[in-house]
Amino acid sequence: MFKEERRTSILNLLIKDHSVSVRKLAVLFNVSQETIRSDLCYFQKTGMLLRCYGGGIVNRQALSKLITENKIDISGTISTPANKDFRLHREGTKMSGKVCILGSFNIDVSATVPWLPQSGESILASQFGFYPGGKGANQALAANNAGTDVHFIFKVGKDQFSSFALNHIIQSGINSYCAYQTDDAPTGSALIYVSEQDGDNIIAIYPGANMMLTRHEINEQQGHISEANVLLMQLETNIDAIEEFVRLGKLANKTIILNPAPYTKNVSRLLPSIDILTPNETEASFLSGITILNIDDAQKAGNIILQSGVEKVIITLGAQGSLLCERHRTLFIPAWSAVVKDAAGAGDAFNGALAASLARKSDLVSAIQYASAFASLAVEQEGASSMPQHELVLHRMRTQSHDIINIK
Ligand code: ATP
Ligand code: RIB
Repeated sequence: MFKEERRTSILNLLIKDHSVSVRKLAVLFNVSQETIRSDLCYFQKTGMLLRCYGGGIVNRQALSKLITENKIDISGTISTPANKDFRLHREGTKMSGKVCILGSFNIDVSATVPWLPQSGESILASQFGFYPGGKGANQALAANNAGTDVHFIFKVGKDQFSSFALNHIIQSGINSYCAYQTDDAPTGSALIYVSEQDGDNIIAIYPGANMMLTRHEINEQQGHISEANVLLMQLETNIDAIEEFVRLGKLANKTIILNPAPYTKNVSRLLPSIDILTPNETEASFLSGITILNIDDAQKAGNIILQSGVEKVIITLGAQGSLLCERHRTLFIPAWSAVVKDAAGAGDAFNGALAASLARKSDLVSAIQYASAFASLAVEQEGASSMPQHELVLHRMRTQSHDIINIK
């Protein structure tokens, strides 16, 4: 084996196990311990390895930078030792199921403003910051925090933001992902205004690299798709990649959830293959042609959308709650009470938690209740990617009463 090949293998082991031993590597590659020490020195110089007695441990901050700068293919499973408290907290809970998510990573540039500006208006922001975001990444984090295994597929550019993206995913605890990179577009970004008054928001998204996934790359993920119970995607990724993902999911008989956000016209060709569609009221209006002002309108919109061939529609209605429309029944699930700070990402929290709960084999109504409780906690935190932990959601569900209203 050549030096480059051996170093790539050592790097993969470091990514997987977070530590390596000189003795074991020497046996594995059938080289002297001196040779392995010189390999580890190389990684130490890059800053990604911290030497310790007998081997080395990964420097997680530097890992993503190295991966990006050296254009290393990091596809495959990366097990992440989550923050210890969370690990301990999760002990004893019965977590199961797997969600495979295809979606976006964006850098969110967020300004908190006293009110949402009108056309031509300039206003002073009271807060400003860069956050990790993108509907795909947010939903992956939500599903992870909700307690299922997650495999997240995404694409970034080869710019400074790609390191930020990889760092975020590595630190998030998401235990499996595949990050592709492209020279042809920058990492996606989003400009977000959040109103101080009620946490309401407006968002402009530049999808960049998110729109560059190829069918071939999706095909490489077939193993992860067949291991999953539920597939989840949004519309910040190019439609042909989504189409391929759905096709493979159908072949493998998976539950397929599409969050049709942001709305795009060519979503209609996907609808007959979708099990659960989760538009918010704006997207449901586009999909149905009905202006949604109340629950009656939402029900009419839901029934029209059902004619497109989707099995079930869940229309999310912000602080009001959500409406489940099936062919034989319509249920209204009110939102859980929350003290709202930032409602951006409420839909992502809802979708990630819904997918996780279904992957754990909850029935649909219980999964919606769980997703609503999860989202009600997410809106209490700043940043679209701030997601609560499973235990907190269970606590909210135990301490607030919650009815379901049968509409039809
Ligand atoms: P965004 O685009 O901001 O991510 P969205 O428009 O896709 O959000 P919403 O319909 O606003 O999604 O919210 C999704 C779910 O989150 C709702 O159905 C509700 O259960 C919950 N939710 C949203 N806002 C609130 C709130 N203010 N209080 C409690 N729960 C909320
Ligand atoms: O749903 C919120 C997300 O939408 C933000 O994180 C932003 O990146 C956009 O994708």
